[in-house]
Amino acid sequence: VQIVVTVLFIVFFIAINEVYQKEEFQQVKKMVLGGGSNLLLTGDFDGLILKNNCRGIEVIKTTANFAFVTAKGGENWHSFVLWCLKQGFGGVENLSLIPGTVGAAPIQNIGAYGVELKDVFYELTAYEIETGKVITFDKVSCKFGYRESIFKNTQKGKYIILSVTFQLSKNQHKLNTNYGAIQTVLETKQITEPTIQDVSKAVVEIRSSKLPNPAEIGNSGSFFKNPEIEQSAFNNLKNKFPNIIGYDLPNGQVKVPAGWLIEQCGWKGKRVGNTGAYAKQALVLVNYGNATGAEVWQLAKAIQASVLEKFGIEIRPEVNVV
Ligand code: EPU
Repeated sequence: VQIVVTVLFIVFFIAINEVYQKEEFQQVKKMVLGGGSNLLLTGDFDGLILKNNCRGIEVIKTTANFAFVTAKGGENWHSFVLWCLKQGFGGVENLSLIPGTVGAAPIQNIGAYGVELKDVFYELTAYEIETGKVITFDKVSCKFGYRESIFKNTQKGKYIILSVTFQLSKNQHKLNTNYGAIQTVLETKQITEPTIQDVSKAVVEIRSSKLPNPAEIGNSGSFFKNPEIEQSAFNNLKNKFPNIIGYDLPNGQVKVPAGWLIEQCGWKGKRVGNTGAYAKQALVLVNYGNATGAEVWQLAKAIQASVLEKFGIEIRPEVNVV
């Protein structure tokens, strides 16, 4: 298996290098696609779209407590999570059922139910488009933040992520069951000593009950990031809107759920043409079938404007708008 994976990787690397070094491709605008699940195309893309389909998962090293696992960028994220669970490797169970690929996961530091990719990240390799070099990035150099990394900011569009290495627990798993409804779901099932598989199943259940399946209704998950505001601004809002929800952050700011703000502006479940804010989670914008990307973007801008007007908070897209 390892040989096949290595050969595939070399073939992918040669192919990508060849594409980028050819003169006719150097002039063309290019976009690298992961699973396409965090992307809103507002029109046709006038250029070359590259889709990384490179597959393979490999345990590269084990210690007494940890397994270091490298997955190629084109692996489907949830399939990777299921593979880890099957091996008994812990750390990614809270990130179950997130659409997209392994290679895209570090770009926006995917997160759910109290865990972020950075918590299990070890290093990644990336193809530097300008030089054709393969570069290794460790955790610090990725500059991970809330749905952020250098690959979404200063280094945007400059690299193709070839593989990601994770540090996963082999035993004594550190479970995160405090966030959201995980504990409630486990209690309902009378599970008092949950395994990583139990946590994953609970997360899958919660996500499936709230979030639309992109294979059935077009969506990109949370459309906006949850805004982070100053404590004083939050206190002022609390006087005006006593039910407002806020989570204190270590830096003294307060994170306000954008879903709540959008719901308060009356958008939850509202349909505008073929688009709308999902009835069970207002932060998820959906395409009921034939809406264009431009229509979804129009809805997003209308929502943004009404949240700004009512609360004075600017909510910013979490999805990549092209
Ligand atoms: N809320 C409302 N109305 C809504 C939606 C949410 O009042 O329509 C309230 C909820 O009642 C809750 C709070 O807002 O008190 C937070 O809601 P939820 O737990 O559903 O999480 P979220 O903040 O809306 C974030 C992530 C999700 C992730 C969940 C669970 C962002 C932008 N989104 O959503 O990530 O799955 O937490 O951890 O941080 C994604 O990135 O695409 C994504 C789905």
